[in-house]
Amino acid sequence: MAENGLVATYVLWEGLDLTVLKFPPGFLWGSATSAFQVEGGSQNHDFYDWALKGRVKDGTRPDEAVDFWHRYPEDIALMKEMHHNAARIGLEWARIQPEVGTFDQSALEHYRKILTALREAGIEPVVTLHHFANPMWFVKRGGWEAQNAPEHFLRYVGEAISCLADLVTWWVTINEPNVYTTYAYFQGIFPPGKRSFFAAQKVRKHLLLAHREAYRFIHNHYRIRGFSEPKVSVAMHLRTFDSARKTSPLDKLAVKMLHRLFHLQFLDPIADSLDYLGLQYYSGDLVRFPLRTLNRPGLPKNALGWDIYPEGFYRVLTWAWQRYRLPILVTENGTCDEADELRPSFLIQHLLQLHKAIKQGVTVLGYLHWSTLDNFELVEGLSRRFGLIYVDHTDPAKPRRIKESGRLFGQIARENGLVISEFDETSESSGSTPER
Ligand code: BGC
Repeated sequence: MAENGLVATYVLWEGLDLTVLKFPPGFLWGSATSAFQVEGGSQNHDFYDWALKGRVKDGTRPDEAVDFWHRYPEDIALMKEMHHNAARIGLEWARIQPEVGTFDQSALEHYRKILTALREAGIEPVVTLHHFANPMWFVKRGGWEAQNAPEHFLRYVGEAISCLADLVTWWVTINEPNVYTTYAYFQGIFPPGKRSFFAAQKVRKHLLLAHREAYRFIHNHYRIRGFSEPKVSVAMHLRTFDSARKTSPLDKLAVKMLHRLFHLQFLDPIADSLDYLGLQYYSGDLVRFPLRTLNRPGLPKNALGWDIYPEGFYRVLTWAWQRYRLPILVTENGTCDEADELRPSFLIQHLLQLHKAIKQGVTVLGYLHWSTLDNFELVEGLSRRFGLIYVDHTDPAKPRRIKESGRLFGQIARENGLVISEFDETSESSGSTPER
């Protein structure tokens, strides 16, 4: 048995040599969503506006999304069926604060109902305060570029925390500050569609300040009310970057630059105000000078053309642990796959890497798969599927069905471990060193 309580036991079952890879006791198993991608009924934010402007690739709109707002009891029952003991959901800022001076208490009450239902099902909620979308009144006042953006955000955070604190321990202040800054202000893919390095730097500073202030506020609030310590983090998207041409010093330089721009300048300044590290991993890139990212030849790709690179998961986990020594909660990991053909093996391959990282001493508290349901994929639309649960978007009743990957996930969560045959010790124990 390893020091951290992990076991690999070998069993003989119907003549097969099986290995059970156990995860630490109390490990959190669940899946994740964000507010506007699933809720429906909220039209007062910039991603809705973006869809109206024709910026969603398949032309769909998040009007109803998957109607989680009303169907949450059914969805929570399905989470339970998949043996979740944790789930990440989002709050929609625009719904809670529809105008600068107005807070909608009925929306907050509704979130209380959702959170209570999760708790009653024995599912620990992990709640995101900001997941890409912003209220239109905030956008009209300059969005995250405005000097007083963190102040606006803090007022919303104050209201949300005051109302929900008794139901929540785990908070994510800001989802992927690095992806948001890059996509919204540098590459122009997310609203407001800017392409400016200087705007992006300003936004980065404001997001990090907003996180710090929210972190402080949440901790003070819990202390004053005598609640046990909250756990607060950002949800950080980490990728592996490697030189496209192994021996090129210029490519190596580009790798360093990208690592600094995309990871370090976001995490280093806030490392002292994180109770855990919310880590999200999807894929890695090869980097070519000056700053071009490329696929890795020979790897399978998902429906969006992203490399399926499980080893990168191990690399980012070990890198983050070595640098920050913070317990890690995987707040997202998943893939886009319309027919659920890739997802089952994607899941297993990534969990093997996660297990390997834990076995080598990385403290990991849990794993939340992206996503619970086939939801509204940001700028791709409804046609792109990331869910453990299938949703028929063409039927007005939006029927749900747990996919094969969802069933597999449920078994793993129930066993708190993976049962595998043909286990190759070397694939779990060998590791490559991150280049950066
Ligand atoms: C985001 C999700 C998104 C997922 C798949 C993550 O970076 O947090 O909102 O749906 O990627 O693209």
